[in-house]
Amino acid sequence: MTTVSFSGLSLAPVEPSDEDAIRQWYELRSAVVSADAPDDPPPCWVYELGSFRHPPASEIQAVWVARVGGSVVGGCCLDLPMLDNQHNAHGEILVAPEHRRRGIGRALLAHLRAEAARQRRVRLVFWVEQPLDPAAPDPAGQFAAVSGARPALFQTLRRLDVGSVEPAMLARLNEQARVKSQGYSLVQWVGSTPQRWLDDIAYLEGRMSTDAPLDDLQWDPEVYDAARIQAHDARSRARGLHMVTTGAVDSVGRLVAFTQISGYATARWFGGQWNTIVAPEHRGHRLGTLIKVANLDLARTQRPELRVIDTCNADSNPYMIGINEVMGFRPHRRATDWQLDL
Ligand SMILES: CC(C)(COP(=O)(O)OP(=O)(O)OC[C@H]1O[C@@H](n2cnc3c(N)ncnc32)[C@H](O)[C@@H]1OP(=O)(O)O)[C@@H](O)C(=O)NCCC(=O)NCCS
Repeated sequence: MTTVSFSGLSLAPVEPSDEDAIRQWYELRSAVVSADAPDDPPPCWVYELGSFRHPPASEIQAVWVARVGGSVVGGCCLDLPMLDNQHNAHGEILVAPEHRRRGIGRALLAHLRAEAARQRRVRLVFWVEQPLDPAAPDPAGQFAAVSGARPALFQTLRRLDVGSVEPAMLARLNEQARVKSQGYSLVQWVGSTPQRWLDDIAYLEGRMSTDAPLDDLQWDPEVYDAARIQAHDARSRARGLHMVTTGAVDSVGRLVAFTQISGYATARWFGGQWNTIVAPEHRGHRLGTLIKVANLDLARTQRPELRVIDTCNADSNPYMIGINEVMGFRPHRRATDWQLDL
């Protein structure tokens, strides 16, 4: 895609102290979600405000709002990892539904490319959600395809209709998993990681970036320690996230597997599946199933209004997909990481 300057478009960074600009960004995102993914939870104000007020310790995040004649027509974000992946950047572009197909997306991409290059990044990665039906309208996929990016990691977002899960099926899964996982015990918590598990969670978080398939995505191993986990937890609190975690502990007292479900301060009917990982030498004992079934139970107890949980897996990850399908998660949307070499 060639660089196009869009006449009359002004781009202004959103400062964490500027609540009016943060609200404009939030309203833009709300309009985009309601147009493109009306069955998703509406964006949560506590989450958006907290994201600006409590930036991550591990990366620099910049957000711009684009205006034409004073009206917000779009916006974009650039995330620059600082502890690892210092050649990479993550981008996001939003164009207000009534202002699409006028070149604003192109102009925002040109801006992100220039900013990322200025920060000495060699590639930009975009997370793009696309419909399952190849015949359905796919503005984001079409946009990505003409941008010069290439699809690097193919994923499918699966959705669980929590009300349709049969307790007898979960009990059966739990029983089968318990038989194969003797010698392990479960621990659960709500909120931040307890001090005693910080190092083990840091190890497992780091492995998420090497053990989950990346296909052609050029993403370096991420580096975690206890301090990074604590900073991450503090940010989750600031964003109003309700985190529910289940872990498995081995016979010598190490946490060797964990899984998490997040919930927003608003839209309490919705849960997001975060990481699930079993340490390599503990795989094959049904720990993945054991912790996921137990965590679903805890999440439902914590939030009886929970109706939907979304999870996203690489299409090349049959083990995780197998567990999710057995639990009742069903394909809902495609999600692709597109990589643009700068
Ligand atoms: C994807 C998105 C950013 C595109 O914004 P936009 O301002 O409409 O994009 P542009 O007008 O600059 O389009 C550039 C090119 O992308 C392609 N494109 C964009 N939307 C398209 C659509 N609905 N159908 C087919 N092609 C499309 C076209 O090739 C277009 O060039 P053309 O208009 O000269 O044919 C916008 O649809 C959006 O905000 N979607 C929701 C958020 C999102 O998914 N962002 C992408 C992930 S970061």
